[in-house]
Amino acid sequence: MLVTGQDPSRVQRKGRYTPESMTHPAKMLPAIAAQVITAYTEPGDLVIDPMCGIGTTLVEAVHQGRDAIGMEYEPHFAQMAAGNLRHARTQGATGAGQVVHGDARNVATTLADLAGTAALVLTSPPYGATTHGQICTGRDNGGGKIDKSHGRYSTDRRNLAHRPTAELVAGFGQILTGCAALLRPGGVIAVTVRPFRVAGELVDLPGQIITVRCPQPSGLRT
Ligand SMILES: C[S@@+](CC[C@H](N)C(=O)[O-])C[C@H]1O[C@@H](n2cnc3c(N)ncnc32)[C@H](O)[C@@H]1O
Repeated sequence: MLVTGQDPSRVQRKGRYTPESMTHPAKMLPAIAAQVITAYTEPGDLVIDPMCGIGTTLVEAVHQGRDAIGMEYEPHFAQMAAGNLRHARTQGATGAGQVVHGDARNVATTLADLAGTAALVLTSPPYGATTHGQICTGRDNGGGKIDKSHGRYSTDRRNLAHRPTAELVAGFGQILTGCAALLRPGGVIAVTVRPFRVAGELVDLPGQIITVRCPQPSGLRT
């Protein structure tokens, strides 16, 4: 069990991530990334996130002296991730970080130079086209209505967030397969994922991800 929710997301990010990062609809809690990186890697190791969003995995890795490479499909999120890595460097992060804009279903060819070198792949698939995003309650806005914003990734239908669940799961399987080729012997793939609802029906995305077809490298833990 990882104890990672002792502080809310905005507290964990304050000063460590650019304010515009908050516009991403489904970020990983920094404490989750930090604890997984501590548990499975050593300083100088390489960490990869093929769906890096605003770069939480990358930022937490470089702050711990690990090197990090991410891929992200949406150009504006890739730019935010690069901005967060620059910010981390100004705060003394010693690892080298890089973001590549592209479709991670091609991660094995895009990052072919890194085959067999990564200690850890830490990532999170999108769970549905919309999320709760940022919520402003009456407590925040002086008693007004509940206000939701930043609940969508983009309007690009090719983003896996917008694909039917079967296609999302198959695409994520392709991404894991590509990532498996980047792992060094004993390397680990860690995935954070949760269920979501489509038209009121619960979609067991964690259950589907566990059974997704991909080769089992020695360190794959589900
Ligand atoms: C749950 S979010 C990951 C958030 C990230 N962990 C963070 O903390 O910012 C999933 C990300 O996958 C991206 N994505 C969707 N399809 C993709 C693809 N084919 N290749 C790469 N990234 C993709 C989405 O744009 C989204 O930013």
